[in-house]
Amino acid sequence: MPVITNIDDLYRIYRRRVPRMFHDYCESGSWTEQTFRENSSDFDLIRLRQRVAVDMTNRTTATKMIGEDVAMPVALAPVGMTGMQHADGEIKAARAAEKFGVPFTLTTMSICSIEDVAEHTSKPFWFQLYVMRDQDFLARIIQRAKDAGVSALVVTLDLQILGQRHKDIKNGLSAPPKPTLANMINLSTKWRWGLGMLGTRRRQFGNIVGHAKGVSDPSDLMAWTAEQFDPKLDWKQIEQIRDMWGGKLILKGVMEPEDARMAAKIGADAIIVSNHGGRQLDGAISSIRALEPILEAVGDKVEVHLDSGIRSGQDVLKAVAMGARGTFIGRAYIYGLGAMGEAGVTRALEVIHRELDLSMAFCGHRDIKNVSRDILRVPRGFS
Ligand code: FNR
Repeated sequence: MPVITNIDDLYRIYRRRVPRMFHDYCESGSWTEQTFRENSSDFDLIRLRQRVAVDMTNRTTATKMIGEDVAMPVALAPVGMTGMQHADGEIKAARAAEKFGVPFTLTTMSICSIEDVAEHTSKPFWFQLYVMRDQDFLARIIQRAKDAGVSALVVTLDLQILGQRHKDIKNGLSAPPKPTLANMINLSTKWRWGLGMLGTRRRQFGNIVGHAKGVSDPSDLMAWTAEQFDPKLDWKQIEQIRDMWGGKLILKGVMEPEDARMAAKIGADAIIVSNHGGRQLDGAISSIRALEPILEAVGDKVEVHLDSGIRSGQDVLKAVAMGARGTFIGRAYIYGLGAMGEAGVTRALEVIHRELDLSMAFCGHRDIKNVSRDILRVPRGFS
């Protein structure tokens, strides 16, 4: 067992174990990848203020996100095809999150279905919805989420059209994947991954296949998704979804104060300041830069969460100190999952928790709920 002390360690194992096309799918951003890179590098521009001679005993990172108790202000973000990074990946990640005491968000584009995850977990999880044109499908999947005991619906607003990722096109990455010859050769070297996949019996893309009209097999999925993501999505439709769901609602992909005001106005419980991990609009600012103007606009009206670029507990601390009530991690837990399955997701959470806890203490705090912007040195003109 290799010694893992940080997320980069997990990434190195992940890169060796997972087939290139799924590695590249995860480890890429759209176009020039400027936003993908800056999501992380902008965190490094914010510095922490060290304090001394402060009692650092009895520390806690426990808090609440949308009223739910969490062991730290970190949730697992929805990640498409998690089940291709590791066999039964959604179930493994959900179980690790549940044991650690943080929320897991299942994507619409998962391999394991809502029901599969519900069957293997005992606490409610969150479900991320892509808004589709087919109203019957939409009504049914919302009902399935309710039946499975999902406790929050996360509606993603920034992917009604697809950002272009060069590597995915070159790798023939589609749903279902159509590997190129080079990728087939690469695949043959990933025996651990392959053995795991042989052991799974789950239907691929179980939220859609067998549930959407005309999609009885994963091979029908490309054509279906191409025409189902509705570029006309507007606030009226979002309000309709809010009413169909009737429970806690989180709107994901908000980057500008005007949109945040609309989200607050329609009664969202939370928004996620997110540029989809740099996978959609390349050239957008990093989400950590987008945070403060949004907090100024709506911070007292709606809970503000943040994702994109978080690779450490210090990144979480910086986002929380700036005013985010919670954060989401995507790639950081996927590296763990691809590297070591459920144990790897647990390791990613442990690493982030330790970094968060110790950094909070160095900054003179014992309780994450009391951390504020005073612990930061933010460069002039950052936001
Ligand atoms: C994503 N993300 C995403 N978001 C979403 O709402 N539904 C989805 O199906 C996916 N799929 C997806 C796949 C992969 C491989 C990645 C890396 C990301 C975006 C995700 O929820 C989150 O916004 C980002 O991952 C956050 O950035 P970091 O933490 O990965 O830097």
